Amino acid sequence: MTTEATPAARTAHVIVLGNEKGGSGKTTTAMHIAVALLRMGYRVATVDTDSRQRSLTRYVENRARRAAETGLALGLPGHFVVKLGEGEAMSAIQAQEFSAYVEIIDRIENAYDFVVVDTPASDSYLMRLSHSMADTLVTPINDSFVDLDVLGRIDPHELTLSTVSHYAELVRSSIRHRRLVDGRDTDWIVVRNRLSTLFSRNQTNVIGALRQVAATLGFRVADGITERVIFRELFPIGVTVFDTLDRKTLGVEPRMSHLSARREIRELIASLRLPVAAAAIGRQEAAVPEATAPAAAAVAS
Ligand SMILES: Nc1ncnc2c1ncn2[C@@H]1O[C@H](COP(=O)(O)OP(=O)(O)OP(=O)(O)O)[C@@H](O)[C@H]1O
Ligand SMILES: [Mg+2]
Repeated sequence: MTTEATPAARTAHVIVLGNEKGGSGKTTTAMHIAVALLRMGYRVATVDTDSRQRSLTRYVENRARRAAETGLALGLPGHFVVKLGEGEAMSAIQAQEFSAYVEIIDRIENAYDFVVVDTPASDSYLMRLSHSMADTLVTPINDSFVDLDVLGRIDPHELTLSTVSHYAELVRSSIRHRRLVDGRDTDWIVVRNRLSTLFSRNQTNVIGALRQVAATLGFRVADGITERVIFRELFPIGVTVFDTLDRKTLGVEPRMSHLSARREIRELIASLRLPVAAAAIGRQEAAVPEATAPAAAAVAS
């Protein structure tokens, strides 16, 4: 295989989290999608292609440690990190990265139902390869006009698109490439992250602008995720809002914020229209009981 080819995963459904802007919520969303699918009873692999920062790897490691320390049966995905290539020549580096990626895909494509891939916030070879493998591409963006730049230059008043961004071009060419290689389409979904709980005119404009340019750029818009401090608390203990929301798991009493976040991310996952059976969603609902209402309801979000 040459480095021009796409190491397409044929059996597993590949979900890629991508955005060229840093800190938009790729890793957090990747882990939540992975755990939600695990709780539905699916076999899930996670792949970290942000091989310098390795935040998803740390999230998974934190989860394994939490499970060992508490004795809780926190489900773990099969986790893989694509090793960065070394050397001087770009072609040699890319060849190493390509074969490292292919080796991982060969191991996981038939052994898992879903593969969740986290990518770095920069245009790199591994990031491009990941985009060209996506069956579902999820792009979280911070809910501000500044962050819309990652898709293109959008006039805040007219809501028109004057320039298509480098990232949107990258996605479009990855999707085209994928279609040529194996005839499969990529479903691209943009989700606003860190929504303010307060109504703001900016928020209305951002959603209006996104809807306006969605058809031109070829993505769907999903409902957003609110800014909540709990996301920062969950990372170091490796937990997600799809785990049992009790003191033993969280280390603190569950709050309304956990329940609201769970509802929001569950809705986000539903809007991804992943190939999940209705029975699996039922399994997840059964496996993840709502936190005991009195404790959760007692604390404001
Ligand atoms: N909805 C949210 N509310 C509050 N904090 C959030 C939210 N989403 C993400 N965060 C926090 O923002 C930080 C960045 O999130 P995350 O690491 O998921 O982004 P990223 O896109 O993967 O970043 P990078 O580009 O650096 O890889 C983390 O500390 C995370 O806990
Ligand atoms: Mg990240």
